[in-house]
Amino acid sequence: MRILGIETSCDETAASVVEDGVKILSNVVVSQIDIFAEYGGVIPEVAARSHLEAMMPVIDKALDDAGCNWDDIDAIAVTHAPGLLGSLLIGTLTARTLAILHNKPLYAVHHLKSHVYANWLHQSSKGKQGTPCHSGTLQGRSGQSLCPAEHIAPCFPLLALVVSGGHTQILYMPGHNQFEIIGTTHDDAVGECFDKVAKILGLPYPGGPSIAKAAEGIICSSDTLKGARPSLQSSEHIIPSSNRYKLPHPKVEGLDFSFSGLKTAVLRAVQKEVGVPISYPSHKLKDLLSRQQVCDFAASFQKTAVEILCEKIEMALTKYPETKSVVVAGGVSANEELRGALKDAYFPAPSLSGDNGAMVAAAAYYEIQSGANPTNPYSLNIYPRISIEK
Ligand code: KG4
Ligand code: ZN
Repeated sequence: MRILGIETSCDETAASVVEDGVKILSNVVVSQIDIFAEYGGVIPEVAARSHLEAMMPVIDKALDDAGCNWDDIDAIAVTHAPGLLGSLLIGTLTARTLAILHNKPLYAVHHLKSHVYANWLHQSSKGKQGTPCHSGTLQGRSGQSLCPAEHIAPCFPLLALVVSGGHTQILYMPGHNQFEIIGTTHDDAVGECFDKVAKILGLPYPGGPSIAKAAEGIICSSDTLKGARPSLQSSEHIIPSSNRYKLPHPKVEGLDFSFSGLKTAVLRAVQKEVGVPISYPSHKLKDLLSRQQVCDFAASFQKTAVEILCEKIEMALTKYPETKSVVVAGGVSANEELRGALKDAYFPAPSLSGDNGAMVAAAAYYEIQSGANPTNPYSLNIYPRISIEK
């Protein structure tokens, strides 16, 4: 079964053709990162307009790359929730129109479900049977072993750690398409925290990748960081220390998270380090930091954020000793330090960690396998803030 997956929930316009939920025949992603790097974040109205321009060329290329015409496509899947209202509208209106025009069944998919199902996709777009990235052993305090590495797909029951720009949740999945939220953030999502800390440190948007680079001693060159201050442009080799700044772990009950305190802790530590009062404008702090300090803050923050995520997953494994697999999903799953820390968890290929159409098609395939009916293309709605449990 070949599904065309369409994704436009935030600032990526994406379409992909996937066979039987696992084999990627094409995967086209047009990112608006360059536009929003100028502004330091996504502007919803601009994102919607960019989707409108890119949508049809992206879909045409996805079909072309897959060597398919409309007769080869069995269904269309589209993200209808959650996300930016205008962005979701462009994707769903396009999918609805195409479904009516080409007489294809239409499936509406929740964005977080798609991120989770990126872990079922084969790694190679050429259909090579790659195993998801995992090695070593992740054990809960109760000591249970997780499903061995030779399994191509994750085993149920599983725990999904969803870490994106808008969400931080732990989901319990007894089987396909069954989701129970067992932990969630009380305030900021972890990806949002990476983005906000990057802003404090003067690193470019999106913050996740630039923090990860700075934590390795690499600060974007003036080519990519337009107008970078001279102090960051030197080619001096930096070895960052992740132990230089001690940042607190939030005291949140159970499996829930809180990341706004960590962001504030970085802000206070930077203010203390450069010797200014807390009333000092935060957008000016970056001008007072050296390259070494920026890299040390990035490394210390990244280490703390990863530790917090790992602690909660360990707690969840203790609480759910029957767990067979842990899967990690969402943009932050691209983070190498997190991949290193959760050695036996499943991760999507780094290119599939962020928003893409292949994961939408994969999620729809497993919905169809579970007996889901297609949605009505004349009345499909969008839900910018709906939970995965609804
Ligand atoms: O899943 P995603 O692409 O979009 C949402 O659904 O929100 O996630 C985007 C988030 C951003 O906050 C971005 O900074 C973060 O994922 N991110 C990373 C990395 N790559 C992207 N965070 C940490 N390390 C990375 N390598
Ligand atoms: Zn996403």
